Amino acid sequence: MKKQVIALLMAAVMVGSMAACGSDGAETTAAADTTSAETTTAGEAADEEGKEEAAGDNVLVMATNAEFPPYEYHDGGDIVGIDVEVAEAIAKKLGMTLEIEDIAFDSIIPELESGKADIGVAGMTVDEDRLKNVDFTDPYTTASQVIIVKEDSDIAGPDDLKGKYIGVQLGTTGDIYASDYEADGSTIERYNKGFEAVQAMQQGKIDAVVIDNEPAKVFVSQNEGIKILDEALTVEEYAIAVKKGNTELLDKINKALGELKESGELQAIIDKYISAE
Ligand code: ARG
Repeated sequence: MKKQVIALLMAAVMVGSMAACGSDGAETTAAADTTSAETTTAGEAADEEGKEEAAGDNVLVMATNAEFPPYEYHDGGDIVGIDVEVAEAIAKKLGMTLEIEDIAFDSIIPELESGKADIGVAGMTVDEDRLKNVDFTDPYTTASQVIIVKEDSDIAGPDDLKGKYIGVQLGTTGDIYASDYEADGSTIERYNKGFEAVQAMQQGKIDAVVIDNEPAKVFVSQNEGIKILDEALTVEEYAIAVKKGNTELLDKINKALGELKESGELQAIIDKYISAE
């Protein structure tokens, strides 16, 4: 019985690949989907081919950390935000379905390296160290690291962070820059979520929070008695990360991003979440 099933499947696979030959991408994918789905139940015989095809399947897995409004955050049961909409628009252009994986920020790069996710879209700053482990697309926006303090704080600028307790989100560029102050006697408190750092400051556990400007604006608007200092610490660029060496995907995304920039769609997505001042 099992042999017959396998034989049948092999035939189906062959028909599938024949149909795929000389047809367009859409049909190839349909054939591949059938193949890999059936392979799972039928066992080894068709496995080789199935695996190959599964890698090229039609799902684009996006790793993110949805604790970063307005780029990615929870809204009821949904994950929404600029990055989600940009990734959706890119997936659409690639003829793929977007699947979102919400994980710790510092797990995103390992997730890309292991191939469990295809793209990291998380307000991710292009950074020399990260470039050793992943590739980045062209940037899609600029940002900066800012300092949030209590309204009555004696911290008025970056220099005043010396010797203070500074809260950051673990593994972010805010973490990297704030860590420079350790040499000046500052203590860095690393939180899993940006808003936890803000809460800790509200509770008097730390003196300041270093975080990206747009999430900072959201957190300040949601909490009484805190403010953003005028002087920013850095200027950064956000881009999409892919597995190192995956130039095929990188090129496709850059092309899609270029089109989204050209058509004004990218700006429209940003404007939907960030009101111009
Ligand atoms: N831009 C900063 C970085 O790349 C912070 C990003 C945090 N993103 C997030 N989704 N939590 O390190």
